[in-house]
Amino acid sequence: MKKVSIIGAGHVGATTAYYIAEKNMADIVMVDIADGLARSKAMDYLHAAPYRHYSIHIEGTDDYSRIKDSDVIVLTAGIPRKPGMDRMDLLKTNVGIARSASRAIAEYAPDAVVIAVSNPLDVIAMAVLKETGFGIRKVLGMAGVLDSTRFRYFIAEELGIWPGDVSAMVLGGHGDSMVPLARFTRVAGVPVSQLMGEDALERLIARTRTGGGEIVNLLKKGSAFFAPGASAAKMVEAIVKDEKRVIPAAAFLRGEYGYRDMFLGVPVQIGKRGVEKIIELELDAQEKSALDNSAAHVREGVETLEQIFAESP
Ligand SMILES: NC(=O)c1ccc[n+]([C@@H]2O[C@H](COP(=O)([O-])OP(=O)(O)OC[C@H]3O[C@@H](n4cnc5c(N)ncnc54)[C@H](O)[C@@H]3O)[C@@H](O)[C@H]2O)c1
Repeated sequence: MKKVSIIGAGHVGATTAYYIAEKNMADIVMVDIADGLARSKAMDYLHAAPYRHYSIHIEGTDDYSRIKDSDVIVLTAGIPRKPGMDRMDLLKTNVGIARSASRAIAEYAPDAVVIAVSNPLDVIAMAVLKETGFGIRKVLGMAGVLDSTRFRYFIAEELGIWPGDVSAMVLGGHGDSMVPLARFTRVAGVPVSQLMGEDALERLIARTRTGGGEIVNLLKKGSAFFAPGASAAKMVEAIVKDEKRVIPAAAFLRGEYGYRDMFLGVPVQIGKRGVEKIIELELDAQEKSALDNSAAHVREGVETLEQIFAESP
């Protein structure tokens, strides 16, 4: 049985564990510094085992050494975005948490593939890469898979069709500058532009960009977690089952799409080694300029991260 450790048993972490458990995908360890939180949630899940047919084990702990020999680590520890708060505001706190988690990951689970979820995830993924010293293909960030499922849902809702029939690709960073690609969006193979007008499509693209913020404003406390948990679990599944699925995710780029030494959301083939391949789409001028804009936002975070590392190596 594969082993997946989830750092941070808050809303996203525990929901990710739930989706993994529901598919009996892997044994799960949830680690959280909040005393008793991970343990209580693990117990609670296990009490449902007879009804939900769980054949996996779930453990909750505040002891990082329990992540030993994990195949996958999902990093969700951090503080969530609050209304009016920019993702970048979260940077300093969450980088500190990511660095201490990374040291434990390097020590106890040196062979794991790491999925960074804590925001701003492209920068957190970079912090994990630097602090663990892992190979670049073993660290990914989760965002595009979430942004594209939101886009897919909005299209399906508009057309009154089954969301699973919509395929879509959202590139770039996770902020409002993300790049939903209408040209690569299809409904059962039919280009979406043949099924709805440009105005409707633009409206749905705008809603996708602000989809996370819409939930933050409604929720008042915290941010989305059901779709983020399902999205992280999707990436975990691709790794533990070596599915080689093509999923938009933040990957470390070395010249792909014209960017270097940063994480950015691109189509990635995901398998047991993490990033098996980065797929380069041929973008038109407008799409490339939108991606440049998004990359520039991520780059700002990376520069701040470099300052943080310079101040405390
Ligand atoms: N990438 C995405 O698409 C996406 C989507 C949703 C949320 N997020 C981000 O995920 C993170 C978690 O969100 P949430 O709603 O689950 O928040 P949450 O507050 O419910 O959970 C975070 C948990 O992390 C724990 N924690 C803090 N420091 C820790 C440490 N050093 N070690 C272990 N655990 C620690 C806290 O005790 C808490 O239980 C946030 O940064 C949020 O912005 C990202």
